[in-house]
Amino acid sequence: MAPATLTARPGSPLRGRVKAPGDKSISHRALILGALAVGETLVEGLLEGDDVLATARAMAAFGAEVEPLGDGRWRVRGAGGLAEPADVIDCGNSGTGVRLMMGAAAGFPLSVAFTGDASLRGRPMMRVLRPLGEMGASWVCRDGGRLPLALRGGALKTIAYRLPEPSAQVKSAVLLAGLRGAGVTEVVEPEPTRDHTERMLRAFGAKVSVEDRADGRHIRLAGGQALAGCAIRVPGDPSSAAFPLVAALITPGSEVTVEGVLLNPLRTGLFTTLVEMGADLTITGAREEGGEEVGDVTARYGPLKGVDVPPERAPSMIDEYPILAVAAAFADGETMMRGLGELIVKESDRLALTVQGLSACGVMVEQQGETMKVRGAARGNHRVRGAASIATHGDHRIAMAHLMLGLAAEQAVSVDEPGMIATSFPAFAELMRGLGAEIEAA
Ligand code: S3P
Repeated sequence: MAPATLTARPGSPLRGRVKAPGDKSISHRALILGALAVGETLVEGLLEGDDVLATARAMAAFGAEVEPLGDGRWRVRGAGGLAEPADVIDCGNSGTGVRLMMGAAAGFPLSVAFTGDASLRGRPMMRVLRPLGEMGASWVCRDGGRLPLALRGGALKTIAYRLPEPSAQVKSAVLLAGLRGAGVTEVVEPEPTRDHTERMLRAFGAKVSVEDRADGRHIRLAGGQALAGCAIRVPGDPSSAAFPLVAALITPGSEVTVEGVLLNPLRTGLFTTLVEMGADLTITGAREEGGEEVGDVTARYGPLKGVDVPPERAPSMIDEYPILAVAAAFADGETMMRGLGELIVKESDRLALTVQGLSACGVMVEQQGETMKVRGAARGNHRVRGAASIATHGDHRIAMAHLMLGLAAEQAVSVDEPGMIATSFPAFAELMRGLGAEIEAA
């Protein structure tokens, strides 16, 4: 049984080298594209977190053969399409899983019902249902575009869709539906978001064109293209690596290296920001693996200063604001984080919970509309107090961010529902303890 709380205490410096867990975004996509493809897809380094395991079960329910081979290696045998599942698809906590699967399923003559946990049932699905409806899919959902919902797929028209919100999940859903559309599907993104779907579609043999124009990035894909199974090596997740790296930056005497971290520029906004803050962050061994750049990232404790983070950087670090706010709490001066509207519709209202949690730990933090402002505890004068029990509302990143604060604060910090951390980072507590962190379950 999962413990009721996890507590992080200030103690010794963090030191060592660890491997980042597999990237969550890429893991979901590998399973979904593997199921849509003809033939065998061998995945190495899959993130075996609860979210991705829910997608693996779902792809089996849609008719693919999905088999764990041990140690993060998985084999998917796709039949070149999806069949109607016999039961409701439970996507657990995963917005990426459900939104991408809705897009993938929309082009097949089937009916499917999707649901998820309480957090996922509260999140907006209209952003995906609207374009899929324009393409010809039909659906019934709860008020406010909420799960559970039922989707009926079939023959699809293609559309040109300008994303109203900067969301890689919505872009991916439209592109996956577009694979089955009659004609060319175009997605225009005013601000580029993570491009793993586009890259992976190419790895599976599809032609995808990407063109930057004055009005944004245009992604075009012709329908009717067959996907062929392939080998996928999943790089380490920069959104998970962020936790031990920031913990090292704020805990005196620390030096931590996380190996094999994905360095796709559409994911590295946090690293850019930390360097601007003066962080001692270095990248070694940069290399290409499976069409993505990866490297080993080392963080050493040292002074940080407050910065102004521009809103256009948000898509490249959207999951990293809670842990950036923790880094900002230990910096000298004020950090302004702007353009955080999308944070409100994540696994929780992450903007509100970060403000509440940091305040409870004695940090001067406030929300002004879509901006979060953190006043750092200038080092040498005073430190961050900690001494709080955080209600995480089942949000894994809220839990991990506050635990990292507890390692560097004056007093311990506890979080509830720590079992949720396994959605994205199952070995989190063990990995942190291996670096010297005092994290205990109760
Ligand atoms: C993801 C996209 C982002 C991100 C999520 C993963 C993806 O969500 O927050 O953790 O894999 O496409 P949005 O598309 O809602 O921005």
